[in-house]
Parts: sequence; structure tokens; C-alpha cells
Amino acid sequence: MFCSRFFHLLALLPLVLAHKEPKTDQEIETQRALQRAAYYCAPAVADFTAARKRKWAQKVLNVNPGLPGYDDLFADANYIDAGESTELMECSPVSRKTAIQNNTCVLTPVVTEGPYYHTEGHPIRTNIAEYQFGLLTYLDIGVIDVNTCKPLPNVLVDIWQANATGHYAGHPFPKPELKDEKPQVGGKRSGLLSAFPRTEFDETWLRGAFPTDENGVVQFTTIFPGYYTGRATHVHVKIFKSWEPLPNGTFSSPEGSLAHVGQFFFEDELNLQIDKMWPYHTNPIKDTHGRTRNWRDSLNIFEDSHSPEGQYNPVFKMELLGPVITQGLAGFITMGINASASYDNWWKG
Ligand SMILES: *[C@@H]1O[C@H](CO)[C@@H](O)[C@H](O)[C@H]1NC(C)=O
Ligand SMILES: *[C@@H]1O[C@H](CO)[C@@H](O)[C@H](O)[C@H]1NC(C)=O
Ligand SMILES: *[C@@H]1O[C@H](CO)[C@@H](O)[C@H](O)[C@H]1NC(C)=O
Ligand SMILES: *[C@@H]1O[C@H](CO)[C@@H](O)[C@H](O)[C@H]1NC(C)=O
Repeated sequence: MFCSRFFHLLALLPLVLAHKEPKTDQEIETQRALQRAAYYCAPAVADFTAARKRKWAQKVLNVNPGLPGYDDLFADANYIDAGESTELMECSPVSRKTAIQNNTCVLTPVVTEGPYYHTEGHPIRTNIAEYQFGLLTYLDIGVIDVNTCKPLPNVLVDIWQANATGHYAGHPFPKPELKDEKPQVGGKRSGLLSAFPRTEFDETWLRGAFPTDENGVVQFTTIFPGYYTGRATHVHVKIFKSWEPLPNGTFSSPEGSLAHVGQFFFEDELNLQIDKMWPYHTNPIKDTHGRTRNWRDSLNIFEDSHSPEGQYNPVFKMELLGPVITQGLAGFITMGINASASYDNWWKG
């Protein structure tokens, strides 16, 4: 079975939140096998991302002639040129002379979905912002299968995230008896508060799912996420191989259709700037716990990604949409997933 970590986590429920204990040899080998497969896709991933960025730049220029030039926004050094390759996702070993780093190929391993996923009610849509305030952010997510290095068209990318002040739709308040709870000091939940219960069942903001297009890409419109106690700023993602649209615009997914559960991050330097902007700077924990840096994430996901058996990069590459940051951002990421694998939702809390 592909991810023994999953069963490992399952065995520890409901306490488990982190993965701080040493990994077993088998877990390390599973991750390494995936990573080896991912390296093989590195040139394909680089081409894939570069082509999307070029397309994006054209789109931005066409709608607003007042924006900076193409070269300013997307300098050569920012991406690897696709060169002569006509076939975008041609699968070839890492042999071409490129600046590809070992973490160029984003392989996001399967990590916890956390307590804020809703198994029903995520609408099928690309604009998930609803009426939330915050910095306009486009997320351009590409999905490839590490078994083939080919893009995965028509898989459902399901994302959810916190609002600018760190709340999830449906979960506005802590349990009354935990109103003054302090973050856990040690142990697996170090730095975290208990999950806020779901009390607003109709809320759907900053949640949504949409299938990848024929190039294996999906683009969401959202706001930059805010932070909450104990977690680095992140966006959650699930990938479903099959799903069924429901009459109310949401979807259901059959057993065995879940191919991936992951989380994406942003550079801390960028987080630091956005911390200063309205409404991010009104975050109620700003002066108490503050924002958790990527390396201090309670769930260790960022840290794990940079460990010897990790070496993947779950961080969006960001571009400014206009001359000033307040006009918004576009983030690009390509995920390598194992489309042959399937999972169960494992956080039932
Ligand atoms: C990347 O990592 C793999 C696996 O650890 C290794 O075999 C390869 O030599 C590394 N490549 C580079 C360019 O560092
Ligand atoms: C849509 O319908 C499903 C299935 O009946 C239900 O579980 C879900 O809560 C509904 N979502 C919304 C937003 O109405
Ligand atoms: C985020 O959501 C919470 C809970 O619904 C709400 O109280 C808060 O005002 C929202 N933040 C912003 C910036 O709107
Ligand atoms: C993908 O998952 C399948 C099924 O679990 C497994 O046989 C295969 O080895 C995995 N591929 C990689 C690259 O890990």
C-alpha cells in the first residue's frame, strides 16, 4: 500500500496532529520512491509551469495595458524556458541543461486534512472568495501523475482555507468552555488550539472544487489566507479522480476516488508583508501568539517537506498582478501525485 504514514496516523487518532516521531524505514522508502518518480518528471514540470506563467502574463497584459511589461513581471530567471519542446508534458529524464533544483518538482505527499474539511457542501466553482475581505489571489494549480509525468485532466481539485483573520467557514468560535484555552505546550499538538466546532452549517466561503482542464490545470480566485494559532499560513487541497455533481451545485465523491490530500504554503517573506495589510493586521492573535512561521508549523508539514526524505517544495511561486502588491497576486504550483493510489478521509474529528 502506498502510504503507510496514513495507517500510522489512523492508528493514533484522535490525538494525532503531528508527525514528530521518527518515521519507519518503510515510510521513508515510500516517500523516496515517490520522490524518485517525481525527479524524473522535473523537466516536464518546469515546462508546464513556465508555459502557464507565459499564458498568464499574456492574459494580464491583454486586459490592462497599464501593468508592467511582460519582462518585468516574468523575468527569464524566474522560470525555465520550455525551449523547442512542442509536447508540453513529454516525459524525459533530468538530462537537459537546466537550472532545475531537486525540489523543482513539487511532490506533495499525503498529509492530514485537518479538522476543517466538510465532506459535503463544497461548491463546484473557481471563485471561492464570496464576500470575504482580503488580498485578491489567483491560484494556478497544475496536477501531474508521477507514474507517467503526464498532466491529469478532469480530476477534481478541492480546496479550502482560512479567511484573512484565520477562520474557516462554518467554524466561527471555540467551544464555550475552551474560550480561554492556551495553545498546547508540548506533545503532538504543540502550539495548537483545539479545533473550533462547526456551528454555521450553511457557510461555504473559501471552499470550492473544480476539475482540471485538458492541460491538467485549474485556476481559483480567492483571497490570501490569514493565520491562526499554531499553523503556518496554508491552503488545503484534495484531489478526486471521480465525483458526481449534486443539484445544489456541490458534489459527492464515491469511495476510493480520493487520490490525494495535501497542503500548500507561501514564502514567509511574503507572509510578513501581508501581515501588515488590512484586514490581515486585525487578526486577533497578532499581539499574542502571532503568525506561526513555516518552520515552526505545529504539524511539521513544511519541515518534513525539507527533510532528507522530503525534498519537495509545497510553496506557491507568487507573482504580483499589478505594479503594487495591493492589486493582488498570482500563485503557481504543480503537484505530482500518484494517480494510482486511493485513500480514505482519515480525519474524522
Ligand atoms: C536529487 O536527489 C536524488 C535522490 O536523492 C539524487 O539521486 C540526485 O542525484 C539529486 N539530483 C541533484 C541534481 O542534486
Ligand atoms: C447540497 O446537497 C447536499 C446533499 O443533499 C448536502 O449535504 C449539502 O449540505 C448541500 N449544500 C448546500 C450548500 O446546500
Ligand atoms: C473571518 O471569519 C470570522 C468568522 O466568521 C469573522 O468573525 C471575521 O470577521 C472574518 N474576517 C474578516 C476579515 O472578515
Ligand atoms: C502509486 O500507487 C500504487 C498503488 O498503491 C503503487 O503500486 C505505486 O508503487 C505507487 N507509485 C509510486 C511512484 O510510488
